[in-house]
Order: sequence, then C-alpha cells, then structure tokens
Amino acid sequence: MQTPVEGFSRFTKEEKIDWVAKNYTGNSQETKDLLATYWNDDSKVQQFHDEFIENTLSNYYLPFAIAPNFLINKKLYAIPMVIEESSVVAAASKAAKFWLSRGGFKTTILGTEKVGQVHFMYYGESSKLNSFFEAIKPQFFKDAKSITQSMEKRGGGIKNITLHNLSDKLKGYYQLHCTFETLDAMGANFINSCLEQFAKTLQEQASNANLFSNEEELEVIMSILSNYVPNCVVRAEVNCPITNKATNASVSREFAEKLKQAVAIAKVEPYRAVTHNKGIMNGIDSVILATGNDFRAVEAGVHAYASKDGNYSSLTHAEITNDVFKFWIDVPLALGTVGGLTSLHPMVKTALEILQKPTAKELMQIVAVAGLAQNFAALRSLVTTGIQKGHMKMHLMNILNQLGADKNEKTQLIGYFKDKMVSNASVKEALEGIRS
Ligand code: MEV
Repeated sequence: MQTPVEGFSRFTKEEKIDWVAKNYTGNSQETKDLLATYWNDDSKVQQFHDEFIENTLSNYYLPFAIAPNFLINKKLYAIPMVIEESSVVAAASKAAKFWLSRGGFKTTILGTEKVGQVHFMYYGESSKLNSFFEAIKPQFFKDAKSITQSMEKRGGGIKNITLHNLSDKLKGYYQLHCTFETLDAMGANFINSCLEQFAKTLQEQASNANLFSNEEELEVIMSILSNYVPNCVVRAEVNCPITNKATNASVSREFAEKLKQAVAIAKVEPYRAVTHNKGIMNGIDSVILATGNDFRAVEAGVHAYASKDGNYSSLTHAEITNDVFKFWIDVPLALGTVGGLTSLHPMVKTALEILQKPTAKELMQIVAVAGLAQNFAALRSLVTTGIQKGHMKMHLMNILNQLGADKNEKTQLIGYFKDKMVSNASVKEALEGIRS
C-alpha cells in the first residue's frame, strides 16, 4: 500500500523519480529511464522547464508545427501550432490556402478591456455605501499609483471602478467591478495586484470613515481578475463571391448554402454548438499554447461568451447577401506577448519570432483567424466528404506507430491506403499482409 510522503518538494529530481517509480510503477527502471530520456541536454534549458512548476520530473513533448499561407490583413503569416490531434494543422493549412486566392482573412479589434473584481459583503443601507464609494473613489487610483505608474506611462492602467449591488442574488453581496487596459501584457499579475490594493483601500477607508455600525461592517471576501472578457474581443472574417460553379476566387452557391445551414444548426442546437466550437478551439488553443498564453483562461472565457445570450451557441456566423458569402467569428481573447512564459520559454520566443513579434492585438487577430480557419475546414469536410476521410488519413500514422511499423512498411501502407478506408482493423490486416 502507498503511504503519504512528507517534504516531497524538497527531494532532488532523481529522488522524486525514484520515489514515484518505487511507489507506483513497481520500481521500474523503464519508467526512470524514460523520464530521463526526455530531459533536455542543455542544462540551462532544462532548468527553465524545471522551474516553471513544482515537482518537475521530466518534459512532456507535444508537436510544434507550422500552418503556412495565412493571408491576414494583406500580410502573409506562417502560424505556429502546438497540438496532438493529427488533422488540425493539415486542416488549418488547407483553409489558409483556400482563402489565399479569395482575398485572405480580415480582422478587427472590437475591444481590449480586461476585468477584475473585489467581492465583498455589506448588510447596511445601500445608499450609504453608494455615497461612501463615490467619496473614496479617487483614493483607489491614488493608493494603486505605485502599481499602475509604469503601465500608465505606456498608455494603459485602470480604466474604471464601479460599485455593483448584487444583494438581490446573494444577501449582502457587493463588488467593485474594475476594468483595465494592459496593452501587450495578459495582465493577470497587474490586475490582481491592483485589486488587492483596492480591497485594502476599501477596508481602510471604511474603518477610517467611522460611517458604518458593527452590523454594517464591510467584509472583503476575495479579489481576483475575471477570465470573462466580453469587451476584449476580436473579429476575423472571410468573404468571397458566390458563383454557380466554384472558382479560385469564389465558392459555389450549393456549398455556401450548406455551410450557412451548418452554422445555423450550431446556433440553435447546443449539442452541435459544443462540437462546432470545440473545432474552433482546436485552432485557437494550439496557437495559444505555441505562444505561451493561458489556454485554460481563454477556454473558460470563450465558452462563457458563447452563452452570453442565454443559450450556448456557435461562435462563428455565416451570411449570404447579394451573392457574397461571408463567414466570421467574434471571440474574446485576453492575450499577452510580453511577460509570463513569452520571454522565458525558448520555443515560445521562437513562435513569436515566426509571427514577426506581434503586439497583443496582432496576436488576438492571428489566433481568431486560426479559430475561424479551423471551423471552416471542419465544416467544409462535414458538408462535403464527411470528416472521417481526412481524419483517418492523418490518423493512419498514429495507427502505424502503435503497430510498430517500420519506415518501409509505413511508405508502402500510406500508398496502399491512398484510395481505401482507414480503420484500426484494416491497417492491421494490411500490415500483416505485408509481413507475411
Ligand atoms: C474534431 O476535433 C473537431 C470537429 O468535430 C469539429 C466539428 O465537428 O465542427 C471536426
């Protein structure tokens, strides 16, 4: 039976690996060797990775790939993507090429406002709290000056602080709802530091003012940024003429109508909307990961945004007007191109370099395009050939690797399956055929 461990974080890496192997893998040398195999030869690089989190044993590899030919606002990008799903990069590249001859992608920043809140309880007269808040409001800005100074110099900072009364939802619940401009930083540390200062100011001012009786006393519960950023939104769009038969510059009427219906279904049907949006996140998350941003924050915010009108719905939209097909996405993305992993992780630095060192706004546009392209590629397959053809073709390599096929066998079987249905069983049978 395993027993709890004391002081694990103080073990050396080797001791941690020994402990894990001893307690969980039958002291397997294979486990120990494998974990060591994935260490980086360059001890400096390894140290970065070790220090990102606690109790690091090894590195966990994901492929770092490139989807080229993305024309965005008339500029050509090759987009770095980190993802394990076999068909995602191929689909992105295909969509990029499809739109390259049809004018490319256009993007617009609709807002860059970040949000944070100080949640507190107050059981007195709300009008008394309102007047108190209005009187002390300038003090919040003053007390946070040492935190905001350098951000303000660059044109960012605190945008506004408002008092929200939510006591109809939860007895005594109020909040300071605060908005920020954090420029090229994702801004989590900046926002959280400001919020903790606001909470201090709120409490100090309340006790100094001698305004509230004991029963009315303010009690701060917590101060934290929100990952829901409905005013930090970017739009990415493609459009092209509709003709009876598709050309290099147009799409066919039949295809445009079908794609529009596929989007319409995802707008009204949550089971479909979730999968539809999952496909969008294939594109978004892989660029977010490659550029060292926080994909959990983005995921949480995006899905909340997809439900903003009361039902979980499609993030993309399609329209046909005057024989023009238009397909677009509005997506909230709080991203950074400075701070955090962006200046630490060597692969992240490279990804940003490949993207021509984008500002946070530019990165928002690139990420939104990756999401839109991914959705377009998925819908295009779904309403024409079906998804499995492309998926299983890409998955063929995974199956061959699982079955231990060598280089020669892989080449033969990739050729063989060019015009055949790929399945686990059919690949196994074909491989056995070659081997016998
Ligand atoms: C698979 O990862 C993503 C898709 O299911 C998206 C979709 O159905 O739109 C293909």
